[in-house]
Formats: sequence, structure tokens, C-alpha cells
Amino acid sequence: MAKNDGISVLMVCLGNICRSPTAEAVFRDKVRAAALEEFITVDSAGTGSWHIGEPPDSRSMRAALARNYDMSALRARQVGVADIAAFDYIFAMDRQNLLDLLDLGAPEHHGKISLLLRHGGGSHEEVPDPYYSGPDGFELVLDLVEDASANLVRRLAQKHGWR
Ligand code: 4NP
Repeated sequence: MAKNDGISVLMVCLGNICRSPTAEAVFRDKVRAAALEEFITVDSAGTGSWHIGEPPDSRSMRAALARNYDMSALRARQVGVADIAAFDYIFAMDRQNLLDLLDLGAPEHHGKISLLLRHGGGSHEEVPDPYYSGPDGFELVLDLVEDASANLVRRLAQKHGWR
């Protein structure tokens, strides 16, 4: 558990340069809007190692900034076995990320790991990888992640009795 009996959230995709840093920035903004920064911390990581240390993809940063999410300080890192033990909630962007996380984490931690969009209100089950897509792909990532993050912050606040 994080300080103040708060909770920690980890967003995970493949490269940690498009979807999961977007989810981190958006979720952090929803937490701030709900005045829950004291209780909820958020981070992101990738299952792959190709982009370690890099800032988010410039297309992701541009699309996010147009909606007032600043991702410029974020740097990619790879998810490790210690993360699975340390974080309270781990959200995968797609099914492959989910399988990789379940492989990495001990069975006792599997209950913390789920698909992010299980918590969204829409019909998508996965946040599609925008890496090889056009600009629409990055807008869709933002739409899906905004919806799920708003729902999640509300549910977590209820579950943990913060409102
Ligand atoms: P992300 O997108 O998983 O949303 O960060 C990708 C970024 C890079 C690669 C794949 C997906 N890549 O193959 O380098």
C-alpha cells in the first residue's frame, strides 16, 4: 500500500511510449480532478524493452497535449516482477499485455491484474496499439482511456471509502 493507506496503480502496454503513458497522464488528471492525489498514485511501464529511457511517442504527446495532458516528463521503463508485487492495481491495455503480466507475476498477485477497459463503459475490450496507425488511432486511445479512467477513479473512491 502507498502512504496514507492509499493505493498504487500501474498502467502497462508493450512499448510504454504510446498507450500506457497516455493512460498514466489521463488517470493522474482524473485523480487530481477528484482531489484524490493524496490517496492514489499512478505509474506506467511496458512489457518490452526497446524504448527504455525514451520519452513518449511524439504523436501520443501531441494528441494528449491537445486535450491538456502533458506527457513530456514521462520516460519509458520495462515492467519487472517487483512491480507486480508492489502495485495494488495493474491495468493492461490489451490481451497480450495481460498474458505477459500474468506470466511475470506470481499467482498470488494475479487478482490485481486486469484489462483496463474491463473498467470502461464502452464496447472495446482492448486499447488498440496506435503505433502503426494514423492520427485517428491516437484519438481513439485517448477516448478509451479517458472513459475508463473516469470510471475507475469513481469506483476506487467508492470502494476505499474516500467519498
Ligand atoms: P505502446 O505502443 O505499446 O502503446 O507503447 C508501441 C510502441 C512501440 C512498439 C510497439 C507498440 N514497438 O514495437 O516498438
